[in-house]
Amino acid sequence: MMKIENAFNRREFMKNAALVAASAGLALGAGGGGVVEKARAAGGNTEKWPWPYEKLDPAKTAEIAYSEWYRVFCGAAVINSVFGQLREKVGEPYASFPSDAFVFLEGGMVGWGTVCGSNAGANIVANVITGPRIAGPECENGALIGADILNWYSNTALPTFMPKDPRVKTAIVQTTAQSPLCHISVGRWMKETGYPIKSPERKDRCARVAASVAYQLVEYLNQWKDDDYEPTSMWSGVGSVGITAQQNCTDCHGDKIPEAPSQKI
Ligand code: HEC
Repeated sequence: MMKIENAFNRREFMKNAALVAASAGLALGAGGGGVVEKARAAGGNTEKWPWPYEKLDPAKTAEIAYSEWYRVFCGAAVINSVFGQLREKVGEPYASFPSDAFVFLEGGMVGWGTVCGSNAGANIVANVITGPRIAGPECENGALIGADILNWYSNTALPTFMPKDPRVKTAIVQTTAQSPLCHISVGRWMKETGYPIKSPERKDRCARVAASVAYQLVEYLNQWKDDDYEPTSMWSGVGSVGITAQQNCTDCHGDKIPEAPSQKI
């Protein structure tokens, strides 16, 4: 299967990415201050983020996510695995963060199979800690962690994490989703293994996927904390192809990839 990042002409992509970065830089420069400052100024509120981060143990975090899955499912499990520990280490504002409220991310958001809740949860955590992807230099490379998680998830045979004491003892087959979407990720795994959605195996597979994402997220956050983070994805669908999208267009469109209407300036 084609790797998502290889779906495009790399040179063309980098050229577009550079253009987007340059214009984003200009916009930020002209406006004086980045997205976060602007949002604060506009709202005149006391909201303060990004929030402080202390390095965590990836394996411990993954174990927490695994067991939390059986309580609040994928999205809230990933959020709790990180924020639960930061409640102990940092206290507020993590202590007041209503992680369990993100239970709605289950099943790709209330069962609609959109983005996998593990990816959504990881993006919530990464954005709270490092700031938004569009924040520019103020959040440096950390702001790309959310995008890198989607890229990693799509291209990795999952689950990668094996809990110490798994609830399901039989081997759980790994599949590569080629997509950050719940529907496609779960669907490809079910097709490969033949297990139905309500089987203990499918549930344990998703619990381990949440744990795998939590593990990877903490690895990225720890590297970022050490000033040692190298972004692995540079995808900007809007800049490159005129539409927001995952990168492997042919996966859904086959050979007939539609062209987006070109922008009128
Ligand atoms: C997860 C599946 C999926 C992927 C991956 C995907 N698309 Fe789509 N895309 C769709 C669907 C479904 C539609 C709606 C098509 C329709 O209604 O005819 C659509 C619509 C579009 C449209 C709107 C115009 C039109 O003719 O439908 C454009 C442009 C487009 N896609 C381009 C792309 C490009 C470029 C990529 C890769 C960067 C991509 N798509 C990746 C599923 C996908």
